Amino acid sequence: MIDNNMSQIAVLQSRLALDIVRVTESAAIAAARLRGRGDEAAADLAALDAMYQELNRLEVGVSIVVGEGEKDDVPHLYVGEKCGRSRGTKLDFAVDALEGTTICAKSLPNALTLVAVAETGGFLRTPNIYMEKIAVGPGYPEGIIDLEASPSKNVTDVAKAKGVPTSELTVCILDRPRHARLIAEVRETGAGVRLIGDGDIAGVIHTSDPDETGIDLYLGSGGAPEGVLAAAALRCTGGQMLGRLMVQNDEQMRLVNEHGIKDPSHVFSADEMAKGDVLFAATGVTDGNFLTGVRFLDSRIKTHSIVMSSASGTIRSIKSNHRDFTKGV
Ligand code: FBP
Repeated sequence: MIDNNMSQIAVLQSRLALDIVRVTESAAIAAARLRGRGDEAAADLAALDAMYQELNRLEVGVSIVVGEGEKDDVPHLYVGEKCGRSRGTKLDFAVDALEGTTICAKSLPNALTLVAVAETGGFLRTPNIYMEKIAVGPGYPEGIIDLEASPSKNVTDVAKAKGVPTSELTVCILDRPRHARLIAEVRETGAGVRLIGDGDIAGVIHTSDPDETGIDLYLGSGGAPEGVLAAAALRCTGGQMLGRLMVQNDEQMRLVNEHGIKDPSHVFSADEMAKGDVLFAATGVTDGNFLTGVRFLDSRIKTHSIVMSSASGTIRSIKSNHRDFTKGV
């Protein structure tokens, strides 16, 4: 019997979880065929096409609220696009068909394909501008991180709560000139900095399992849509994340207003960026800290994915072995 108080996500989650893994697997296989070829746009487009086709097979109505760009810039998966088959259940989707296009083009670690699902209105709708981000994994007291406080205070507080000296903490930061001061300040605390070339969704998710990834804290600015996807992931793992939009000019302010965000300086919690019950799935394109990249064998393809639910708190690792229909066997 269905509990009327349960969200549609909670009711559908066992079926939907596998369905969205199929979506991320398909995009990952398409992108991986172009891995290391130096062509970011081609890999991105292949992933996008594959993801769109799989989303269209879903039984639910799909509304893209965090997507690959605006309608005029991309053929599919633009914000506002509707797909899927159902005229009944309608859900909001946040997607990134290929997170880390450069990583994929260079065959470097941690390129992913990602989908998150929430009830209608569950995801923060944001323009594609920068967002300041801070994130830690599960097990810390609520409120341990603070975007208004200095990086060094955050590092010190997290180290104290973990019960280790700051020198035993590793902070993940995107390697960008705009982060030069941040990197220096974190290093001054004694903490180590893991610099990543791209892929801050993976960087944030890595805080969820420091024993495996070696990353305790994520700091720095990156894409706001990526921030919403990362928040959905941390809602499922039980980590904490905060994000604040970085409005850099009048045009961006206009876009922020257009998206209905009244206070552009508001610090959003993970719960505000991804509200209610959410599902999150990711598949590795290239090898990474928590997912193995796609493997092409004789006539089979192996993928490694993660699918998580905030309602049940379940984190499933899914290794699939697919028939490679392009081999004609
Ligand atoms: P793409 O996959 O779209 O190339 O994004 C990669 C990425 O590193 C994101 O993970 C991150 O949020 C953003 O780019 C950072 O932007 P910038 O490269 O401008 O610093």
